[in-house]
Amino acid sequence: MKTILVTGGAGYIGSHTCLALLGAGYRVVVAESFQNSKPEALRRVQELSGKEIGFAACDLRNKAEVEDVFDRFSIDGVVHFAGLKAVGESVVKPLWYYENNLSSTFHLLNCMEKRGIHLFVFSSSATVYGDPDTVPIREDFPLKPINPYGRSKLMQEEILSDFQKSRPEFRVALLRYFNPAGADRSGRMGENPNGIPNNLMPYIAQVAVGKRAKLSVFGKDYPTPDGTGIRDYIHVTDLAEGHVAALRCLEERSGMVICNLGTGRGYSVLEMVRAFEKASGRSIPYEICARRPGDIAVCYADPSRAETLSGWKARLGVDDMCRDTWNWQSQNPDGYPDEPTWKGSEKL
Ligand code: UD1
Repeated sequence: MKTILVTGGAGYIGSHTCLALLGAGYRVVVAESFQNSKPEALRRVQELSGKEIGFAACDLRNKAEVEDVFDRFSIDGVVHFAGLKAVGESVVKPLWYYENNLSSTFHLLNCMEKRGIHLFVFSSSATVYGDPDTVPIREDFPLKPINPYGRSKLMQEEILSDFQKSRPEFRVALLRYFNPAGADRSGRMGENPNGIPNNLMPYIAQVAVGKRAKLSVFGKDYPTPDGTGIRDYIHVTDLAEGHVAALRCLEERSGMVICNLGTGRGYSVLEMVRAFEKASGRSIPYEICARRPGDIAVCYADPSRAETLSGWKARLGVDDMCRDTWNWQSQNPDGYPDEPTWKGSEKL
């Protein structure tokens, strides 16, 4: 049984991936600083899986702390989620973004090289494509991110690619996520944004539950059928399974794989509002506002390469995403509770 180190494992995608890895028979160790997440997420991963996870409180920017994680646990592979991800903030604090996001990757790779650990799955983003000339987006499209967050993702992809070329035994998957949405089917785990949500789905969910008065729709003058932006929303459970599939793929083949993780279908903002209203039985008041700077009109994936390489494809649709988000949001209107009751296991 392989032990996988999941960095940022208490985050939205990280926690769902921990659950999927445990379900697939991997042992899981989480390295977390809880800068942007709560221990309760990990306690619920254990509750739902019935399995114990290893835990190391770790600031991944600190080389000695990262070394310590690898010394304490016997790690076979790494799934790397930890990082800063707010586009607007990255424009205001670019150095902060580059320093945070790049240094953790360097520390992880150095530790892995020293110990002969060869499996790495990287949490990248469709943001590396910037504003694509055409859709659906294939992995060989030009990479031209338009903000420091996106560039920090691309830089990490490039570092990983150069490292892989210099170490043929190193196996890496670069997973470019489209728009994660939804929550675990149980309603016990979901997205828990700090403060005002930046992203559409958690914002809609907070309007539905009465935490926010109305949604601002950013632009109705895009060249799309209803004038609002179109995105490829992918259920977080499908996304989590995509990481398991990537690990399995790397166990069987050497080198680097690059895959889009999306559904291949785009939905507009207003289509998402209507789908959420249907799933929740609540009305979602909204107003049309100006475009958000840096937004693009249409973005959806060609996800066929992931299926060819690993057999993975998204199974769940927008109605499942809205149902499960509503289930989570209505049962946990304030997200995860704050008490740091969960300490985690120091050994596995
Ligand atoms: C955003 C990031 C992207 C990141 C991704 C992670 C920006 C510009 N892009 O993608 O880099 O990888 O999140 O999930 O922030 N919308 C509204 N009202 C809202 C929020 C969003 O109308 O309150 C619209 C947006 O204009 C867009 C769609 O909803 O058309 C989706 O927005 P969002 O969920 O923020 O995702 P992206 O912008 O695609």
